[in-house]
Amino acid sequence: MEDRMMTQEEIGEEGQIESGIRPLTFAEYIGQDKVKENLQVFIEAAKMREESLDHVLLYGPPGLGKTTLASIIAEEMGVNLRTTAGPAIERPGDLAAILSGLEPGDVLFIDEIHRLHRSVEEVLYPAMEDFCIDIVIGKEDSARSVRLDLPPFTLVGATTRAGMLSAPLRDRFGVMSRLEYYKEQDLSDIIMRSADLLDIPIEEPAGSELARRSRGTPRIANRLLRRVRDFAQVKGDGEVTEALAVDALEKLQVDRLGLDHVDNKLLLTMIETFRGGPVGLENMAATIGEEAHTIEDVYEPYLLQIGFLQRTPRGRKVTHHVYEHFHLEVPEDA
Ligand SMILES: Nc1ncnc2c1ncn2[C@@H]1O[C@H](COP(=O)(O)OP(=O)(O)OP(=O)(O)O)[C@@H](O)[C@H]1O
Ligand SMILES: [Mg+2]
Repeated sequence: MEDRMMTQEEIGEEGQIESGIRPLTFAEYIGQDKVKENLQVFIEAAKMREESLDHVLLYGPPGLGKTTLASIIAEEMGVNLRTTAGPAIERPGDLAAILSGLEPGDVLFIDEIHRLHRSVEEVLYPAMEDFCIDIVIGKEDSARSVRLDLPPFTLVGATTRAGMLSAPLRDRFGVMSRLEYYKEQDLSDIIMRSADLLDIPIEEPAGSELARRSRGTPRIANRLLRRVRDFAQVKGDGEVTEALAVDALEKLQVDRLGLDHVDNKLLLTMIETFRGGPVGLENMAATIGEEAHTIEDVYEPYLLQIGFLQRTPRGRKVTHHVYEHFHLEVPEDA
């Protein structure tokens, strides 16, 4: 499917564009109160003991602030942040090189940690547990293993799929924080903060309207803000008023729940082709021409969250909310 405006995943140059508005401290990080409060306690305690922070696993859907939190953790600990990603580490030796280059207390951030190669993952076990790695020196008959001590460090892992992490890896994280979809008020605050940093004049009700349609996701909230600013500049006098925001969102084909044509296609296919389900993931994927894991990771989490989809042992099912949303007659069994 084409580039999708309402996707939770990063599109185009967004990572760079966003660097000016990415929160750098806990004070700037809005929402996720439980996660934030706990991490603040753990960080303060580690600092009091002059120890490195325990390893942290951040998990949850794309665009909710995992990468942002990883850099905040390093910032609040007052240490360096080293960033890499699961698929980028090809061989055990690559990870050994990264680990042996760390300074005491450093944060090593491994994004998409569920995609680490198994052989690389095995290097992490002793590194996380005992701050050491075993490296093999020499070849064949003369090969021997040498144990190398590492400075104490903090591994921060991020994943959209905690279920895909192997048990031995998961067990080595002392802190596991699950990020949740944001409340409307939090998204509204995020939008007003971003508008302020980007010098975008915006009415409070316009911010709330954008928040309602952002699928609980800060990345989408910031993206909608940028798009609506374009309309304000070209079609208005630069100010994002409520009327202008509503009009622009309509032109962008984002409905009042933040659903777009991709969601509509998925939901309507389920109703028209599968009588609302239950339908298996693979079957659904083949029908709409998408990969099953894309549906699972990107399309369906928000639809599950707002109660439009339900998971049953026999597959996914649409709920009565979907029929009501499309002004269709609700069948008896929905
Ligand atoms: N709590 C927050 N307060 C304000 N802005 C936020 C917050 N969380 C995220 N953002 C904004 O949303 C953008 C996306 O966040 P981030 O890149 O950290 O998400 P992610 O969870 O790492 O996504 P992915 O799974 O795709 O890697 C950031 O650039 C940041 O500006
Ligand atoms: Mg990220």
